[in-house]
Amino acid sequence: MQTVPTPKAPMPLQALQWILDPVGYMEKNFNRYGDIFQSFLLWGGTAPLVMVNEPKAVQYILTHDTGKELTAPGDVNQLLEPLIGRQNLMLLSGTQHRNRRQLVMPPFHGERLKAYGQMIQQITQNVIEQWPTRESVNVRLTMQKITMRVILEAVFGLHQGDRYQQLEHLLSTRLDMTATPLASALVFLPWLQKDFGPWSPGSRLHKLAAQTDQLLFAEIQERRAHPDLNRTDILSLLLAAKDEAGKGLTDQDLRDELMALLVAGHETTATALTWAIYWIHSLPEVQQKVRAELDTVSNPTDPSSFLQLPYLTAVCNETLRIHPVAMLTFPRRVEVPMKLCGYPLEPGMLLLGSIYLIHHRPDLYPQPHQFRPERFLEQQFSPYEFMPFGGGVRRCVGAALAQYEMKIVLGTILSQMDLVLLNKHPVQPARRGVTLGPKQPVEVKKVRIHSASKSLLEV
Ligand code: HEM
Repeated sequence: MQTVPTPKAPMPLQALQWILDPVGYMEKNFNRYGDIFQSFLLWGGTAPLVMVNEPKAVQYILTHDTGKELTAPGDVNQLLEPLIGRQNLMLLSGTQHRNRRQLVMPPFHGERLKAYGQMIQQITQNVIEQWPTRESVNVRLTMQKITMRVILEAVFGLHQGDRYQQLEHLLSTRLDMTATPLASALVFLPWLQKDFGPWSPGSRLHKLAAQTDQLLFAEIQERRAHPDLNRTDILSLLLAAKDEAGKGLTDQDLRDELMALLVAGHETTATALTWAIYWIHSLPEVQQKVRAELDTVSNPTDPSSFLQLPYLTAVCNETLRIHPVAMLTFPRRVEVPMKLCGYPLEPGMLLLGSIYLIHHRPDLYPQPHQFRPERFLEQQFSPYEFMPFGGGVRRCVGAALAQYEMKIVLGTILSQMDLVLLNKHPVQPARRGVTLGPKQPVEVKKVRIHSASKSLLEV
């Protein structure tokens, strides 16, 4: 019987290419093998990995991932453990995972999300007021400030004060340690994380982790000592939660969940916002359409006015399509012998949905490397054709927040000022830790601010 196509390159070479050039790795194998192929990606275990990019097959996987046929285990995400620990959504499995999701999801949806609108706009305003005029601004750094403060508010109900400033600094320093493809080897080769003396990256990692933990545990202890039942932030909800036996979460559980949400909740959205600003300012016709639409907004100080704009929404979708920050879904495990795309799969195999490859299939997205928001106005894509947030039982818990935040941040910035892009050459995607981000810094300059009457003022 035919088996899943397998790249012939030696495994270590495949692993190296996956670390240094993940887009090249996926595109090369897609061109050679098509919808499904085995991959060697250094994930910390030995089970064979199969990458799938055919939307119907991915739909099958993500609609059967709680059943007898497939599961979504957390222990296979062990590469993330040194950063975020074990007792959190991403590493929990089965019932524990389901219960934790029920606890963490509500603050990121519905009425709670609406309450964040003003806060997101205010934080954006405070950050852009610090932008110098006619000087280069590093877009990622400022977007990261905004998204970090937003997630600190959602998680702790506060983003100002000494402890939060220190946390902001420590987390961005930690994530910057894997900001380039080569440095990302730290994530995939755990022995590099060992402490080999004061100058080794491992020693720096340990120091940063110890300092971060000290702040998180201090916050947890203070909150335990002074519970406030009126608070609706995530830490308060987690502190109040009890299981069927009446047992609450331990300090270690809380620390791990807080780390997971802080890490997953800010870098991803900051990267997406950086790309959106890049594309809007590299394509004059896109910029002109975004501006024309923003001109129709009667009250730009009301954050909800940016949420239903069709072209801005299409720009956000096209940004997440062309540069999906998370290239892959988390692995789903095959539990019974089955067939996918005509190939037999054995129990124990791990299946990865390649979000990047699905988003670049020429049969779905003609000229896939072209940024064209109109695609999303002309056609509706299924949740397995456009899936920046994955799907099934591990679908991103922050998907609604991230999309909400993108529109409010972009609307708030662009309705107030004109920016020019300073990058002279096209910016390419490159690995950043386990995510995909811009290879070079995206830089802009503020050239004009809009007065309240919307006439443009030279500054
Ligand atoms: C543009 C921004 C974001 C993108 C592209 C993104 C993407 C993803 C993807 C692809 C997954 C895996 C889904 C799967 O395996 O099916 C995921 C999971 C997750 N994301 Fe996001 N995410 C973003 C923002 C956020 C935010 C703002 C938060 C925090 C609130 C967050 C928290 C999580 C968590 C906790 C999980 C694990 C869920 C689980 O295992 O049950 N993400 N995200």
